Parts: sequence; C-alpha cells; structure tokens
Amino acid sequence: MRPHIICHMGTSIDGRLHPSRFTKPAAGIPAEVLRSHYERIHDGFNADGWIIGRVTMNEMAKGTERQFANAPKLPREPHLGNRDGRKLAVGIDPSGRVHFGKDNVGGDHAVAVLGEQVSDSHLAELREDGASYIFAGLKGDDLASAMAQLAARFGAKTLLLEGGGAINGAFLKHGLIDEFSTLIHPAVDGVAGSQSIVDYHGEAGERPGAGQSLRLTHCETLEGGMVWLRHAVERAPG
Ligand SMILES: NC(=O)c1ccc[n+]([C@@H]2O[C@H](COP(=O)([O-])OP(=O)(O)OC[C@H]3O[C@@H](n4cnc5c(N)ncnc54)[C@H](OP(=O)(O)O)[C@@H]3O)[C@@H](O)[C@H]2O)c1
Repeated sequence: MRPHIICHMGTSIDGRLHPSRFTKPAAGIPAEVLRSHYERIHDGFNADGWIIGRVTMNEMAKGTERQFANAPKLPREPHLGNRDGRKLAVGIDPSGRVHFGKDNVGGDHAVAVLGEQVSDSHLAELREDGASYIFAGLKGDDLASAMAQLAARFGAKTLLLEGGGAINGAFLKHGLIDEFSTLIHPAVDGVAGSQSIVDYHGEAGERPGAGQSLRLTHCETLEGGMVWLRHAVERAPG
C-alpha cells in the first residue's frame, strides 16, 4: 500500500512553474489574495505531509554540508528520527545533496528519500540533524518503494506532491499521482522553454502520462479570479 498522492500546484494560464515570471495581477486585485489561496487549500487537504524534489528542497532547507570523516559504515536501512506527531516534509534526494541543518522544514519533520549510494558522512549528518531517511533503491529512483515505505513506516495516508516540474513528471511517469489540484493564476508567463508544472525529463516522444486519464472533479473560481481545478487520475486496467 502507498499513500494517496495529490499533486498540488499553482501555475499561470500557460502551465508555467515560476510565479516570479508571471504577469502582475490586474488593477484592484491584491497579490496577497491570490498568494493566500495556495496555502489555505494545502492546509484544507489535512494531508500527512508534502513531497518535493531535490532542487526545490535545496531552496527551502537552510543547512550547510558537514563532513564526518569517521562516520560509521551504516546499513542502508530506514532511519526514523523523532517525528513527534508532526507532518512530513519529504525531499526526493537520490545523491544526498540536501542539507537540512535541523529536524524540520518549516516545522514539518524532515525526511530524505535517498539512493543507497550516498556517503556514510551524509547519513551521519542527517542523524545529527534529527532528520529521518529512507532508501529508494541503489540510485534512489524507486519512487514506488519509497512511497510504500512512507505508508508503512510513517503511517502516511495522504501526501501532497508540490513540485518542481521534474519530480512531478517523474511521479506521473511512475503512475504515482492519484489526483491533481491546480490553481490557475490570472497570469501568463509566455516565454518558450520556461519550466512547466509537470516537466518530465525523458526521451523525445515519450509520453509519461500514457495509460492515464484525467477526470474533472471540481472547478471553482476563487477571489481575485484564480481558478481551482481538481482532476482524479484514472488508470487503464493493467
Ligand atoms: N509553482 C510553484 O510555485 C513552484 C512549486 C515548486 C517548485 N517551484 C520551483 O521549481 C524549481 C525546481 O523545479 P525542478 O523541476 O527544476 O526541480 P525539482 O523537481 O524540485 O527537483 C528535481 C530533482 O529531484 C531529483 N529527483 C529524484 N528522483 C527523480 C526522478 N525520478 N526524476 C527526476 N528527478 C528526480 C533530482 O535530483 P538530483 O539532481 O540531485 O539527482 C532532480 O534534479 C525551483 O526553482 C522552485 O522554486 C515552483
């Protein structure tokens, strides 16, 4: 069993990822009204935690790298810090490049999803921080196993997948997204090649959504002209 995974993202009308590039709100629409919808809806899901990719987690985690020259050789087994009832802040970090510096991100308990190839020094750093970690295979790319461990070890029933585009694309490719919650800003980015909210890195011609269909389950216009869409992901049998 794995958790129910909801990909919750804000975007421009052209599906782009970076709010700093969006056009300004129209006259009379306060930017903070538009900004507030994302966190309010995030909280409303009352999920057990949230998941982000290594690049996005690097922007949020404020620690710096420390070297543990005499770190013991540890088995590649899950390590659970003291969660203390908090929600989970999960970073998908195959090579151990995220440095938390503490046991939480924004108050939620830090959990690193690693490849077994990471150094013992990095594991020692995570343990000293009080963070938890699990392994997603040798290269850290077995996302299905990682999600199953989050259910089994942490009791996670619902998790929010919150970007960036690369990790959202990887989850889509692996058939691990059950629902999309998309907040469409009344804004446009407009430049060719700007990252989109689902941005799978694969071969030309690949279709990461193949075998999956989206069914609209909710459509609501929010204050300031933001549109909230919810889609259930349906998979073809087999
Ligand atoms: N709309 C929003 O408000 C919003 C929300 C979230 C993020 N963002 C922005 O998005 C940007 C980052 O997005 P991003 O797409 O570049 O990066 P990302 O999705 O945050 O992280 C991608 C990284 O995740 C790791 N990863 C682990 N397993 C993977 C797999 N199977 N496939 C692909 N990657 C895997 C890789 O780390 P390694 O390179 O270490 O292997 C990869 O480079 C940031 O600037 C952030 O601010 C915006």
